[in-house]
Amino acid sequence: MRIGVFDSGIGGLTVLKTLINKYPCHEYIYCGDTKNIPYGEKSIDELKQLSSDIINFLINKNVNIIIIACGTVSSNIYTYLKNKYNVPIYDIISPTINYINNCNYTNIGVIGTKRTIESKVFSNTNKNIKEASCPKFVPIIESNDISKIDDCLDEYLNNLKDCDLIVLGCTHYPLIKNNLNKYFNDKVKLLNMADCLPKVDLVETHKNIELYFSKLDYITKNNIDKIIKYNYIEEIQFNK
Ligand code: DGL
Repeated sequence: MRIGVFDSGIGGLTVLKTLINKYPCHEYIYCGDTKNIPYGEKSIDELKQLSSDIINFLINKNVNIIIIACGTVSSNIYTYLKNKYNVPIYDIISPTINYINNCNYTNIGVIGTKRTIESKVFSNTNKNIKEASCPKFVPIIESNDISKIDDCLDEYLNNLKDCDLIVLGCTHYPLIKNNLNKYFNDKVKLLNMADCLPKVDLVETHKNIELYFSKLDYITKNNIDKIIKYNYIEEIQFNK
């Protein structure tokens, strides 16, 4: 099976990695829209346009299914995308909501981009949840100057210190897990949304991983190489 996966940048590679672990023997085509990052500050219409460009690109690459590895796109326009295309599309938020509804944690926090938190998607759970948007995180993570993260942790996370579970509602945030664990003194469980995806047995085929980014400069390439191994990588414009 050819599986298309996309995000605004390198964050979705954390999802791709989990997918490769859970469902190893497939072909993965990954798109990171590094030219248009951050998605967390985009309007709904912009998100629809950018996501549609990527999905059209992935459909031209003959993918069988698409996984939205972006919390912002999943929380704001999943229904729009699902209804627009015939190819099966899965989001990253629904399995997370399912996990929250069935877990035993009671003091739950969610951190995400401005758009994700504004979407109120996490109020669809049966738990009382504290939310915080962290707009500076994604640009810092993409710039690879992770030490700058520590300067804004208190501003965003101060109200979440009594939580026992914090959902990383943006797929970039697993890349700063060490900083977050240090801030919470390892006392809070941090949940990657990708870990909520179901594990299923699939027929074995061969494994191949292709990555496409709309802006592939030295820093981005360096970041990618630290996160994942791949067979092919290319800079490409999704709207052509
Ligand atoms: N990884 C995206 C998410 O999960 C980041 C969005 C952004 O580019 O701001 O929301």
